[in-house]
Amino acid sequence: MNTLGQDAKNHGAAVGLSVDRITINGGKPLIGRIELRGAKNLVTKAMVAAILGDGPSVLKNVPNISDVRIVRGLLEVHGVHAKEGPEDGELILDPSAVETAHMADIDAHAGSSRIPILFCGPLLHRLGEAFIPDLGGCRIGDRPIDFHLDVLRNFGAIVDKLPSGIRMSAPHGLRGAKVSLPYPSVGATEQVLLTAVLAEGLTELSGAAIEPEIMDLINILQKMGAVITVATDRVIRIEGVPRLGGYTHRALSDRNEAASWAAAALATEGSIYVGGARQDEMLTFLNVFRKVGGDFEINDEGIRFFHTGEPLHPVIIETDVHPGFMTDWQQPLVVALAKARGVSIVHETVYEQRFGFVDALVEMGASIDVRKECLGGMRCRFGQRNFHHSAVISGPTTLRGADIEVPDLRGGFSHLIAALTAEGRSTVSNVGIIARGYENFITKLQLLGADFTLDA
Ligand code: EPU
Repeated sequence: MNTLGQDAKNHGAAVGLSVDRITINGGKPLIGRIELRGAKNLVTKAMVAAILGDGPSVLKNVPNISDVRIVRGLLEVHGVHAKEGPEDGELILDPSAVETAHMADIDAHAGSSRIPILFCGPLLHRLGEAFIPDLGGCRIGDRPIDFHLDVLRNFGAIVDKLPSGIRMSAPHGLRGAKVSLPYPSVGATEQVLLTAVLAEGLTELSGAAIEPEIMDLINILQKMGAVITVATDRVIRIEGVPRLGGYTHRALSDRNEAASWAAAALATEGSIYVGGARQDEMLTFLNVFRKVGGDFEINDEGIRFFHTGEPLHPVIIETDVHPGFMTDWQQPLVVALAKARGVSIVHETVYEQRFGFVDALVEMGASIDVRKECLGGMRCRFGQRNFHHSAVISGPTTLRGADIEVPDLRGGFSHLIAALTAEGRSTVSNVGIIARGYENFITKLQLLGADFTLDA
């Protein structure tokens, strides 16, 4: 088995998914209701934040996804005691016995996750040292960690690159710093927050990312006792405090999962009520969804996304940091765009290689040309650098069933949608990767009336 296949199996197994391939008979609209839980891209960081407290933290609305399992394992090897609380989806994290972990244990638990880099600030505060192995994550570009290392050095950390990973120490403690990010990186902004809250003195971060998940992390840190001010110009100021307590917090729901099911409703000509979806966190997505020809109804508990029965329209999308169109939303939506009448363009400006997933769609009959040029109004970091980061999608096309292999998390969900909308039968393998970020997706497909079998 290749390493991607093994990775997929590990992710699936972590959440009790015993199969890694599903056969889908496409062409049935997805109709029904599903419920969101806490956002993957907040919950995992909130779990790391628990290390900063001098008492236990209680996190609610935690999804059963393999990324959560990985972070829990990493916390446990660092001496954090983790246990389920009385409420479904409640996790109690007690960091009172935090200790240095063995490099081999960190390596074994980290798997392909990038979260270990965010342990550095909190561990430097608690223990004066931190170690991170080689980092993985989805294969959607180089995904360097240079911003993170520069941030940590700004706070006074000493960074040593070893053959086995990166070792950091802070023999004289960490001090507040003036930090300016060259790009509003989500992870680097979180790195600054998780490090600055206990650093001595004031930190000023400019060029910060301001995604809703980051705002919710700030909510958590404030509950713990941090003093953080967010200005309107991507500037965040943090006044370091000497100690933080634990938190009790209900994680905001997963808007990326909501957008994925919305795209599935549109592509399969169905109707999906997504419980927990919130308009204010999805404004940009909702605008595009409507322009493509989808519609939605919003109430207090969630949003129903549906196909109106009319032909879909082409759109031009440029992915961007919040409040722009999230990069994580483009892959699922591309399947619907292949069915729209006319030429759509998706200019990916966040990751340099996020169109690997379209090969399978082309094999299924989609007409998608991936170009090196910046096709859009934005000059992005990847123009003139030979990255295939703009997709031209000509429709309408009818997708045919095929044997396809999931390449990464969001690309994988897009493959599921493609198989669900295709004529005939498709076999989708490596579906375990989808368990990294989509809770109970097999059960949800069943609830929505998908026609599929799980292959042993
Ligand atoms: N970057 C650097 N150097 C760094 C860090 C980032 O060059 O040190 C670059 C990246 O290579 C990328 C860009 O900056 O081109 C943005 O990366 P960012 O740091 O914002 O991404 P991240 O924190 O690694 C999180 C999410 C991603 C999501 C992005 C953008 C988590 C665990 N991951 O990644 O989610 O796409 O922000 O919003 O929060 C997903 O959920 O499928 C996923 C990939």
